[in-house]
Amino acid sequence: MFLATACAPSRSTLRESESGAPSHMALLFVAGLASTKRRSSRLALHPDCNSVATAWDLIRGSQINKMPLDYRVEPGGVLAGSLRVPGDKSISHRSIVLSSVAEGVTEISGFLEGEDTLATMNALRAMGVRIDGPAQGKVQVHGAGLRGLKAPKKVLDCGNSGTSMRLLCGLLAGQSFNCELTGDDSLRRRPMQRVSAPLREMGADIVTARNGMPPLKLRGVSALRGINYAMPVASAQVKSALLLAGLYARGRTCVIESAPTRDHTERMLQVFGCVVERDGNTICVSGGGKLKSTNIEVPADISSAAFFMVGASIAPGSDITLMHVGVNPTRTGVIEILRLMGADITLLDQRNVAGEAVADIRVRHSRLKGIVIPRGLVPLAIDEFPVLFIAAANAEGETVLTGAEELRVKESDRIQVMADGLRKLGVAAQPAPDGMRIRGGAYSGGAVESHSDHRVAMAFAIAALRAEGPTTIRDCANVATSFPGFVQLALAAGLKISENLHRGGR
Ligand code: S3P
Repeated sequence: MFLATACAPSRSTLRESESGAPSHMALLFVAGLASTKRRSSRLALHPDCNSVATAWDLIRGSQINKMPLDYRVEPGGVLAGSLRVPGDKSISHRSIVLSSVAEGVTEISGFLEGEDTLATMNALRAMGVRIDGPAQGKVQVHGAGLRGLKAPKKVLDCGNSGTSMRLLCGLLAGQSFNCELTGDDSLRRRPMQRVSAPLREMGADIVTARNGMPPLKLRGVSALRGINYAMPVASAQVKSALLLAGLYARGRTCVIESAPTRDHTERMLQVFGCVVERDGNTICVSGGGKLKSTNIEVPADISSAAFFMVGASIAPGSDITLMHVGVNPTRTGVIEILRLMGADITLLDQRNVAGEAVADIRVRHSRLKGIVIPRGLVPLAIDEFPVLFIAAANAEGETVLTGAEELRVKESDRIQVMADGLRKLGVAAQPAPDGMRIRGGAYSGGAVESHSDHRVAMAFAIAALRAEGPTTIRDCANVATSFPGFVQLALAAGLKISENLHRGGR
């Protein structure tokens, strides 16, 4: 059986339209493939491209990415075959951060070569860490040790990535040098007080801009002190920032979670030889230790797999297997919610890789029904709500989400932006301060705005499978932050998608 994998087009496979209109169909060979019989599993790996990303992604990330890029999706695709989506974003960030301050050389495989994780990598390079790669998802990090980072000569640019900024803020809070963290327009509107306030309690010197937003200016300190901190929001980024700062603190740093959140930092710290104590909802680390290099295999990202899980659930005739996906129980809320809605999802060959649970996930089309989403599942599916709203729009009856106010401070206000897009297509969606009420039913095609939010863009591409006409999704370039090669993989899976690049702006 052949496997389709996420892979960006090389320069030569990108085409602009003959008319000079600012458009191209990506990866023509895959387009051909997409028109082959859907039911069989087919080879979809481009002969020039056996890595998750190529130099073209990097060129695109730095230049063309800033030009408007729209998706157009025709309705009626059927998703079939076996796919491997790119590496887990959360685990990739952590693999670079921890290996950079470990002692010795760490080999990483399956690394996500997306703009977000490359921002973390570039920040650590700017602080003197030697990092070889990425090449075909492989990275070699020559750890500098906990005290081996050097003052960066420039501002550290986290781009669109909240995870880069919050994790780096924790790591850098206890350094002896000054530095500054900034990001793009979206990131500069996101709340950072949630990390700066507890880090200041530990003795860090952090100055934020207006309303606790970036840029963050950190001044060197001689030492931090451990604290006990009860997090007011259930946030893995905040927890991780404090645990990283705790490596530099005198005594113990304990974080008390209000609800379970992804635990990749705790797991990976242990793989690097650090003692992490867990007692109920309290997680503690002690300063003064060392991290020892190791090997990390990053599984495929369940948050990226989620688009195809929902796509296969809603498109009649679909039967898809998502290979080697991370199924850490703090991330599988999307599977639990879809199963409650009646989805047909089977986990195959469950295994453990570098401290993380992994499985192949088979999803077949089924009739979905509306549900009240259990509040306890919200933090365990926090990044999947844009596409879960699409599942709700295709379910019989009403779906109600509450307790999800955090969605308002993601890469966009995901409650408002998704409600606006759904309504534009004719879906009955009622936003609330902390969630949404959606009544499923038929909907039209049309043009929707992604507000440059990668997950909103991909969610509406999936919605388009069941629309009554073609759907255009605007400003999709940021999909490259988490899912390089999305269009090519989606085409290989059976989505009738093309992308249009507006070279001269709109
Ligand atoms: C992440 C945690 C989540 C999630 C983000 C990645 C992480 O954010 O939304 O995409 O890697 O720790 P919060 O910690 O703000 O919930």
